[in-house]
Amino acid sequence: MEHLKEEMRKALAVALPGQDITLERPRSGDLGDAAYPCFRSAKNLGLNPVQLAQELAAKIRIEGADVVAAGPYLNLKLRPGVRAKAMLEALLGSTPYGSAPANSETVIVEYSSPNIAKLFTIGHLRSTMIGHALAQVNRYLGCRIWRLNHLGDWGTQFGTLLAAYKRWAEAENPRLDQDFEWVDEIPERRRTPLFRLFQLYVRFHQEEEQNPEMRDEARSWFKRLEAGDPEARRLWIWFRDISLTEFQRIYDRLGVAFDTLEQGEAFYEDRLKPTLERLADSGLLQEGEGGAKIIDLTDAGIQTPYLVQKTDGTSIYATRDIAAALFRQEEYAFNRCIYVVGADQVLHFQQLFAVMNKLDPWFQGRMLHTPFGMIKLPEGKMSSRKGNVIFLEDVLDEAVQRVLAIIEEKNPDLPNKAQVAELLGMGAVVFFDALNDRVKSITFTWDRVIALDGDTGPYVQYAHARICSVLRKAGAAWAEQARPTNLLTAENASVAFGEMPLPASMEGLEDPAAQTLLFELSGLPEAIRTVQRENMATALARQLLAIAKAFSGFYTQCPILHPENSPAIREARLALCVATARAIRQGLFLMGIKAPEEM
Ligand code: ARG
Repeated sequence: MEHLKEEMRKALAVALPGQDITLERPRSGDLGDAAYPCFRSAKNLGLNPVQLAQELAAKIRIEGADVVAAGPYLNLKLRPGVRAKAMLEALLGSTPYGSAPANSETVIVEYSSPNIAKLFTIGHLRSTMIGHALAQVNRYLGCRIWRLNHLGDWGTQFGTLLAAYKRWAEAENPRLDQDFEWVDEIPERRRTPLFRLFQLYVRFHQEEEQNPEMRDEARSWFKRLEAGDPEARRLWIWFRDISLTEFQRIYDRLGVAFDTLEQGEAFYEDRLKPTLERLADSGLLQEGEGGAKIIDLTDAGIQTPYLVQKTDGTSIYATRDIAAALFRQEEYAFNRCIYVVGADQVLHFQQLFAVMNKLDPWFQGRMLHTPFGMIKLPEGKMSSRKGNVIFLEDVLDEAVQRVLAIIEEKNPDLPNKAQVAELLGMGAVVFFDALNDRVKSITFTWDRVIALDGDTGPYVQYAHARICSVLRKAGAAWAEQARPTNLLTAENASVAFGEMPLPASMEGLEDPAAQTLLFELSGLPEAIRTVQRENMATALARQLLAIAKAFSGFYTQCPILHPENSPAIREARLALCVATARAIRQGLFLMGIKAPEEM
């Protein structure tokens, strides 16, 4: 397929010297496999675009394809057999479909970055899963990636935690292994030490509103921590451990991993002084109100100055981000550093990037913030809102429960029901999140998240499972062809499949429904590149839906297992099934979603 497009590009370059030759993907396969919009070059040449398209169509010949004018477009349309062969070749080979060979780009993806001693909320899902998809896609496209987690493991909130622990836990519940009397109705298995720590935190904040002097208590504990007080330090390490254990459990459940969890905010503590010195040496530091240190950014068009040191001399979030950027420059010499962080921090990152550019022009264009909106739930639908947050695990568990109920109704004899429900429930939540525009806030409506017949993850997973079921009926050897030969862990971006021989003929694939499916499969590589370009997974989610829908059309229109007693047609159609299963499995996996073979 690619070499025919290349031929078209070359022929156009000859016919239109000096003009921009960028091919587009037509909306549907009926129009063709690639399109050249003639507007721009026609304008440059003083011609009518419709006429130019016709002239080009009369001139350009490409073996195995038709070159036809459609209004102002010149379309390249592969003959059905050529399209089928090109796609099956690409999908049944052993090179992961749509991947790219290793290049020299180093990409840091910083994502998830939860705050220690707080529970994972639904808000963290987006950063975690968008970040995971960006890391996977960049790796698939040949970049060297570093997956970092800027854990919020330092800052004044630890003063609060220490103070709260001393007040209410140390005497009676020092190991945080018992419930406090103010428990919420939360499932037994989730009443972890982290949950209790979180309760302490919430309670402190609630009481602090009545007793503002508690604020000093928290502040003084943070000072002690910063000064290296052994007791404060010991408790801090323990709180951090408690949190990491819990986070790791969730990351395992989501199938997400990081290259290190050691580079959280605390990691930069001893780099802050040199950072402030460097800022001072560069003449960037100014005296703000009450002796605070600020950086003026008005010349970069940002009115709010960046606060890097508070009046009491304590460092803050912002300073640690500057230190982190400098450290990453040195340690990773990155080409791009993508911060996957909520839209509420847009200003913070604008300021940070402006500061880095002033400090060293090297940073120019390498730093990128991919903001995203919030996930909202319809009011009153969620049972557990504690301290005004929605816990991620409540949402995941609810998705899994709802899917399980559907399975019980539709396919009660399915083996491994619980396991399948887990994959579908997670797939539903993650897919919904990705499908929706990253920047907008989205509202969760359960029907829209899990419906088997809507634009959902389970719909795509269902298409895959249906193909696997057809292949099983065709025989174990067929089913095996759609099965990965590697482990699908976060340490891989590629799903490996064995090389499979092409069917003897493409007979049976000229049917329009098969052609539509082939056309949608051909859109996957472009969708993957779009994820890299746009830093959101939406394009990939959409393309997978298009493939799943096209498969459903193929499945209803074209008999696969018993086509008019023709072994050749059967073989070709089964090969297309294998190709489709592979594409879906790979595409979902890049998004962090697994596809069961049966559901
Ligand atoms: N821990 C922060 C939060 O939960 C997010 C950190 C984002 N990353 C960064 N480099 N500032 O809001």
